[in-house]
Amino acid sequence: MAGKFITFEGPDGSGKTTVSTAVCRKLAEAGYAVSYTREPGGSRIAEEIRNVILDPENTEEDPRTEALLYAASRRQHLVEVVLPLLKKGVNVISDRFIDSSLAYQGFGRHIGMEEVWNINQFAIEGHMPDRTIFLNIPAELGLERINANRSSLDRLDQEALSFHEDVYNGYQKVIETYRDRMIIIDASRDVDLVIEDAYNAVKGIIDG
Ligand code: TMP
Repeated sequence: MAGKFITFEGPDGSGKTTVSTAVCRKLAEAGYAVSYTREPGGSRIAEEIRNVILDPENTEEDPRTEALLYAASRRQHLVEVVLPLLKKGVNVISDRFIDSSLAYQGFGRHIGMEEVWNINQFAIEGHMPDRTIFLNIPAELGLERINANRSSLDRLDQEALSFHEDVYNGYQKVIETYRDRMIIIDASRDVDLVIEDAYNAVKGIIDG
């Protein structure tokens, strides 16, 4: 039986990486076949593309170039890592996927959700996640957290609050559009509570 493809989404500072890696570890300890991966990146070529996208020196990067690079990185990661694991029956937890592009490039960069969706369909050929865990946190609180916790900020982290607010509002549109796929968790709470809720949700998805 094919594994389940589960993605974690949320604004910067939502604790997505901490929560998704903890959930993955707990599932592995409980005996589930599960693999953690992340976007942009997750394979050698995709990580190289990640570096081009996020390098703070690449200030001249055009928004559509950025959207295409995310889609290219996504494609490489999908065919090289995600699909082979799913085929082997391994459940894949991906820290970000297409919804990040819809929110960040579609709304943050104002390209529009439909155009970003279309270029991503070329990249993913219909391989959508089974379910998506959305860690909900207001843009301002997320930014406060990354400014307090990270020693270096990438090119997107460094964007103004207004960009992150557009991303947050974009995510709300994405949630409305794909309501059946989304599980929304309040990520402004203590991280252990967020991990517990996310773990129970993901376990429920895998158990069917
Ligand atoms: P990360 O901080 O979760 O590793 O992601 C790196 C940055 O890339 C983060 O600011 C979100 C952004 N991003 C997009 O803008 N579009 C995308 O499609 C993805 C996957 C990430």
